[in-house]
Amino acid sequence: MNSTPSAHASSDPTAGPPPARNADASVGYGDGTRAVRAGLPPAVPGAPFLPGPVFAAPYHLDPDAGPAGADNGYGRPDNPTRRLLEAAIGELEGGAALAFASGQAAVTGVLLSILRPGDTLVLPSDGYYPVRGFATAALEPLGVTVSFVPTRGPHPSFEGVRLVLLETPANPGLDVCDVAALAEQAHAAGALVAVDNTTATPLGQRPLDLGADISLASGTKALTGHSDLLLGYAVTRTPAILEPLRAWRNTTGSVPGPFDAWLAHRSLMTLDLRLSRQSTNAAAVASALAARDDVHNVRWPGRPEDPSHAVASRQMRRFPGVVSFDLGSAERVARFLKASTLVAAATSFGGIHTSADRRAQWGDDTSPGFLRLSCGIEDPEDLVADITTALDSATI
Ligand SMILES: Cc1ncc(COP(=O)(O)O)c(C=O)c1O
Repeated sequence: MNSTPSAHASSDPTAGPPPARNADASVGYGDGTRAVRAGLPPAVPGAPFLPGPVFAAPYHLDPDAGPAGADNGYGRPDNPTRRLLEAAIGELEGGAALAFASGQAAVTGVLLSILRPGDTLVLPSDGYYPVRGFATAALEPLGVTVSFVPTRGPHPSFEGVRLVLLETPANPGLDVCDVAALAEQAHAAGALVAVDNTTATPLGQRPLDLGADISLASGTKALTGHSDLLLGYAVTRTPAILEPLRAWRNTTGSVPGPFDAWLAHRSLMTLDLRLSRQSTNAAAVASALAARDDVHNVRWPGRPEDPSHAVASRQMRRFPGVVSFDLGSAERVARFLKASTLVAAATSFGGIHTSADRRAQWGDDTSPGFLRLSCGIEDPEDLVADITTALDSATI
């Protein structure tokens, strides 16, 4: 099965001569080249490709000029390792990036730096559920009206709305919405649009190019992909959004540490390779699952039969590695996970190891047998064989 949407832009044979060394790596290159070069400093003889993490709380100050005399004064606002990571993410998303300590820090930072009492926020009713929990527990008491709309729509009028947060593909149900159409509708009503790009990653979808004002994500997932750190980011082309968000981050202190920032940057260099294999694996797994009559409601936007396929094919640059389906009961899910060798029982997704999570066990609004399966980078034949054998032994 072809797991690549028609819109996938890899290397562009019509591009002119390669840009000069160290020019903007996002211009004219394919995804693999862009990922491997993103955010790297100019080549200096004797220097490493990616400088190691700079561990510093205070930095030496110029006694005369004080903080104005250098780029780095104090570690919360200033860290060169974090700035390189932000340059990389900004190149891939196509805007100016701010890195956060986690995806939740990025989402809540965006919400709290924009919304004021009396504002209305539109959230997906089927997106990452702690965002809904935060809106109900923290935003509504501040006087923000929150309205929940399913990702597949229909979306009501955005008249009177301050901010629309879309999550596409939505986690965990994998519905997809048309970002360009909704951004046009929201802007006509005077609303801002943010897109949670966690599942797609910046190589899978470019929300700012589709008309969104903000792209934000959990970098904990496929962006970094090694299941060893927490990270979040928000990217925008609008200084009037960026600067209040930067001020918010600096005063609340939700920054990633230098070692995590460095690990994240090192990891995202292989994003193209990892996503390619994850998408290939998801195609193989989704089709093996869909062929079984003991597995229900298989969802993967790359399947032509999937309700999200048409819009995902137009809007996404590649399909994700995440598949969802229903095994009917919590007990059968447990039997399946115990019988499998290659599928780790674990939450999160986007990592190089295949994992699966029964979302209802965390309080997500899903049926007891609903499973979100995140394909890793194992060989597709091994993965399909392992999942098939485990399902065969975990009969209903
Ligand atoms: C779509 C989405 N957004 C945001 C988050 C929050 O990210 P983090 O766990 O890095 O705080 C998650 C985490 O699963 C997520 O799936």
